[in-house]
Amino acid sequence: MPAISQRRLLVTSALPYANGHIHLGHLVEYIQTDIFVRFQKLRGHRAIYLCADDTHGTAIMIRARAEGRREQDLIAAMREAHLADFSGFQIAFDHYGSTDSEANRALCGEFWRALRARGLVVSRAVQQLFDPQAGVFLADRFVKGTCPKCRAVDQYGDSCEQCGASYSPADLVDPVSTLSGAVPEIRSAEHLFVTIEALHGFLADWTRSSGALDPRIANYLAGHFLGEPLRDWDVSRPAPYFGFEIPDAPGHYWYVWFDAPIGYVAATAEWCATHGGSLDEWWGRGQAAPTAEIHHFIGKDIVYFHTLFWPAMLEAANRALPAKVRVHGFLTVNGQKMSKSRGTFILARTYLDHLDPGMLRYYYAAKLSGGIDDIDLNLEEFTAKVNADLVGKVANLASRTARWLETTGLSARYPDDGGLFAAAAADAETIAEAYEACDFARAMRHVMQAADRANAYVDAEQPWKLAKAGAEAADRLQDVASVAVNLFRQLAVYLAPVLPRLAEQAGTLVGGPIRSWDEATRPLAGLPVARFEPLIRRVEATQVEAVLAASRQAEAPSTESIRSSPGASPMDPTTQPATDPAAPLEAEPLAAECTIDDFTKIDLRVARILAAEEVPEARKLLKLTVSLGGDVRRTVFAGIKGFHDPEKLVGRLVVVVANLAPRQMKFGLSEGMVVAASGAGAEGVFLLSPDAGALPGMRLH
Ligand code: MSP
Ligand code: ZN
Repeated sequence: MPAISQRRLLVTSALPYANGHIHLGHLVEYIQTDIFVRFQKLRGHRAIYLCADDTHGTAIMIRARAEGRREQDLIAAMREAHLADFSGFQIAFDHYGSTDSEANRALCGEFWRALRARGLVVSRAVQQLFDPQAGVFLADRFVKGTCPKCRAVDQYGDSCEQCGASYSPADLVDPVSTLSGAVPEIRSAEHLFVTIEALHGFLADWTRSSGALDPRIANYLAGHFLGEPLRDWDVSRPAPYFGFEIPDAPGHYWYVWFDAPIGYVAATAEWCATHGGSLDEWWGRGQAAPTAEIHHFIGKDIVYFHTLFWPAMLEAANRALPAKVRVHGFLTVNGQKMSKSRGTFILARTYLDHLDPGMLRYYYAAKLSGGIDDIDLNLEEFTAKVNADLVGKVANLASRTARWLETTGLSARYPDDGGLFAAAAADAETIAEAYEACDFARAMRHVMQAADRANAYVDAEQPWKLAKAGAEAADRLQDVASVAVNLFRQLAVYLAPVLPRLAEQAGTLVGGPIRSWDEATRPLAGLPVARFEPLIRRVEATQVEAVLAASRQAEAPSTESIRSSPGASPMDPTTQPATDPAAPLEAEPLAAECTIDDFTKIDLRVARILAAEEVPEARKLLKLTVSLGGDVRRTVFAGIKGFHDPEKLVGRLVVVVANLAPRQMKFGLSEGMVVAASGAGAEGVFLLSPDAGALPGMRLH
């Protein structure tokens, strides 16, 4: 039965761009939000966690072109990859939508009509750089040139990394399109603007006194934006653009940042369609609407959008405003920006290939204190902390005591533990307050102190000695182990938002699934105890090194990701225009015709290279270990030595002939063949890779 004080929370994470994979930086946000939602649910509140892919914009359009497929196919593949990454990290959305949905199109229309009705839309010509070769208007990021202020070369279209000046791309000296290398032209096009200055008073008031923002954020906004008139917001883009066409302005599309936050509302509408209730119960306003709290979790790079534009749109459309906009900082790895060459630009998938997701969830929790400071993933500290806390303190507590209870179960009454359980139970509200404030670091400190006390108890009682003492100490042994197992389950309740697997495991061990926070305040007695199999094992330095090695090889970061790590190359190599050799088939004519049945006999699969080493005795061979997904591995000898650095191959996806009869070679058994291209016109052996989103084991058809 819901408690009288049951709250209703609608919680969101920012919608990840569909033009790149999820990396450990993103996960700071998704893990943080997931912990918050799981905590609220455990407390008995009604919370829904909504998110979606952010699918529109120039970057997606360009990437789809480069890969030679439709935007819809690209975003569908990326959606699968995002969902696999999120579920790998135990991030449990109640609904995951897409900004390219009919629900979102309809809601964009609703917001648009409201803005029009209030006279907040104006039209104006804009001078913009146009790439005549690619046939697109160029977003600032797709132009480079010489800084008009300090003359530094190779600067982006919006700002200079040398002198910090910001300017319009049209001011760049010697501008070049990064898409085609062409010299852009200046073209004029009509754009539609929202005149948010009309809502200046509302925004000044809301940012300061609604309680939605950390005072530091409110001060930042007051100092940087609200002290002067707000500039009109350019919300349309002329064709070609991948997005929604504006119904009353044919040939013009809503800018991606217009439809993206509306995606939060669209995801809610879709959730309501399957779970019942009406959209207005969450996003309605006024007396008819029951109060739900909207919490947006975002990174510090998108504060402006969520604290000025978005509330202005909600206000204009008469929809509910967020109760909280919770801003976090950026992830650094080993004290520096994530970097591909250092191997610290780590994709979610790469991490999951080598390490347990619970470890990162715990490490981030221990680092997040609810503020906007950047957080550092120090890999040595990560290893040490996970081993000391999760393995040494938490798992160890159960693994060294539960076995004494496998036949007897828990003592019939909870034994005298010197007040240990009660002491940790008395912390329940303190820990809950820390979770509520997103000060997970403080919550983790309290939990680890309780774990220290529990382990000190076991060290003092020495159950292993009691076990040797035989029958006369049996009752005492049962009591000591019952205390330890109860203290373990209590820790698992407190850690449940962070470590859902640990909570499940504790429930299986004794007492059934953990369903509520209050269970941390009630010890169990007289129940059977199952066998305990530790889930989390020590992290070895070699696992972390494998992640770094694989990250140097993984897919190039997306253009949007690079925004957070400047210095890297802005475009995928796949977008470089190619010159095709004149007559390739002359050098190697086509093979005799085959039937589709002939083709399907050959089972081609996507595979990931897990290890690559030279075969010293062979001139051309590399020995590769490839994964076909799950635990299926193959050893393959590939004739690519000299063209590929074995170290750099680890982690990348290739195509293998998976049903080729194994062949005994001088150096070992080869269990397949890696597919590669070679021929006239260019020296080399070129490995094939699938598009982003493909997974090991997928078949080629
Ligand atoms: N698509 C927009 C958000 C639209 S919300 C209506 C976007 N996408 S993103 O993929 O670039 O980022 C998604 C979230 O992840 C953002 O809140 C962003 O701040 C966060 N992070 C992306 N890289 C990050 C780090 N390196 N560190 C911490 N958070 C980072 O922005
Ligand atoms: Zn400059």
